Amino acid sequence: MARLLISKNNGAQLIGLMLLIGLTVSGCNLNIAKEIRRHTYPPEFNYTTEKELKTTMWQLAAQVKKLEEVMQNPNVNGDLRRREAMQILTEMEQISKALGMEGWPGNHPKVSRNITKFRSDLVAARRALETNPPVYYLAGTISGACSHCHGAS
Ligand code: HEC
Repeated sequence: MARLLISKNNGAQLIGLMLLIGLTVSGCNLNIAKEIRRHTYPPEFNYTTEKELKTTMWQLAAQVKKLEEVMQNPNVNGDLRRREAMQILTEMEQISKALGMEGWPGNHPKVSRNITKFRSDLVAARRALETNPPVYYLAGTISGACSHCHGAS
């Protein structure tokens, strides 16, 4: 590896590699993989590893379950239900950021194709709760938003 560096005679690259090596030693393997991808793919490309995608999906699934509980639990009603549901929807929007930016290509075409629709549904459900009186219908059927990617089509 050292010979390769010298032959290229590129100081910036040398520093970059030394940094990568340093990071390896400190055990930040995930960051390195990301760092390398940042250089191999154009910056507007959303690269999501299989593992990141799955982790994100399970996080979303956990929130959907939580939201369904909030919507169905008769003890969580009125403004408490509204506030809890809004918080969960905001959290889901936050989690969905790991799926990349809207309208930009990525390595999961299904995700890039539908992520904007998914986020719009989350936002619509949250906004409906902000109206006076709040509208709960969209929050209560949020799993419908998952079907942009998980539906029959
Ligand atoms: C923008 C697209 C998209 C949306 C929206 C989406 N998913 Fe996924 N999901 C995927 C892809 C891609 C996979 C990978 C496997 C596949 O193609 O089905 C996946 C896989 C999963 C998995 C399996 C993960 C594993 O370990 O294999 C679960 C669970 C899941 N999604 C739940 C959800 C839930 C719940 C929602 C709604 C809150 C949701 N997904 C919304 C694209 C999406």
